Amino acid sequence: MPEFKGKTVLVTGASRGIGKALVDAFAGRGAHVIAAARTVTEDGATPHNSPQVTWIACDVARAEDRRQLIDSVRKTGRPLDILINNAGIQQALDLTGGDPDQALCGAIETELAVNLTAPACLATACVPLMARPGGTIVNVTSLVAIQAKASAPAYSASKAGLQRFTEALRQQLEPLGIHVLEAVPPLVDTAMTAGRGKGKLSPEEMAAAIIRGLETGAGRVAPGIGRVVIALKSLSPALLTRLMGTR
Ligand SMILES: NC(=O)c1ccc[n+]([C@@H]2O[C@H](COP(=O)([O-])OP(=O)(O)OC[C@H]3O[C@@H](n4cnc5c(N)ncnc54)[C@H](OP(=O)(O)O)[C@@H]3O)[C@@H](O)[C@H]2O)c1
Repeated sequence: MPEFKGKTVLVTGASRGIGKALVDAFAGRGAHVIAAARTVTEDGATPHNSPQVTWIACDVARAEDRRQLIDSVRKTGRPLDILINNAGIQQALDLTGGDPDQALCGAIETELAVNLTAPACLATACVPLMARPGGTIVNVTSLVAIQAKASAPAYSASKAGLQRFTEALRQQLEPLGIHVLEAVPPLVDTAMTAGRGKGKLSPEEMAAAIIRGLETGAGRVAPGIGRVVIALKSLSPALLTRLMGTR
C-alpha cells in the first residue's frame, strides 16, 4: 500500500504518544483519519486538530463505545483501509501480597480488556468494513510479548495474547486479501515510559516504522533493539531473562 492519500485510517489511542504521531503522519499524507481515545475535547477537537482528522471519544474497553466507533466508520460510506489497534495501558502489579480486596483482580481485568479484548473485538468487527484486497489491520504489541516483564505481569500476558491473536488473525484474513501487521515497539519516549529507560525511540520514529511496514507489506515491524531481542529469545533465552525479565 504505497499511497495513503484518500485512504481511511482508524487509529485507537490517538490522543498522545505513538497514536498521536500516527495520526499526524497519516493526516500529513492526505489520509482521512478517524482518531479514537477517551480524552477528546467537547467540540471533538484536540490540540493537534486537522481537517483530515475526525475525533471520536471512545473507551475501547467498553463494548458500547466500540460499537459506536464502528458505526462511525460505517457511516463514512468508505471502505476502511487501515485499522491500527494502538490503545494500551501498562500497570505495575505486585502479586506477592495476595489480593484480599480484589483490587489486583480488577486491575488485571482492565488491562486485559484494553490491551487484548478490545483490539481483538475491534479487528473482528472491522473485517466486514475493510477494503479488500488491500486493507490492513495493525496490532501494536510489545517486546514483553516475547520476554515477560516481571513488574508488569498482566501487561506481558495481554501483549503475548495479542501477538498470538495477531498470528491467527493473519492466517484467517489472508484469503480475504486483508493483511495483518504486528508492530512491536521497543522503548518509545511517551507518557507510558516517563522517567524510565534510555535510548528511547521517538513516537515519530515508531510511527515511521509502522508506515514503512505498511508500504513494504511486512508481517512484523520491530525497530530499534527489537530485532536483537527477538534473535536473543531463540539463541539464549536465559540471557534475555537476565537482561530484561526483572526490569
Ligand atoms: N511507549 C513504549 O515504550 C511502548 C513499548 C511497547 C509497546 N507500546 C504500546 O504502544 C501503544 C501506545 O503506547 P504509548 O507509549 O503511545 O502510550 P501512551 O502515551 O500512554 O498513550 C496511550 C494512548 O492510549 C489511549 N488509551 C488508554 N486507555 C484507553 C482506553 N481504555 N480506551 C481508549 N484509548 C485508551 C490514551 O488516550 P486516553 O487516555 O485519552 O484514552 C493514549 O492516547 C500501546 O499499545 C503500548 O502498549 C508502547
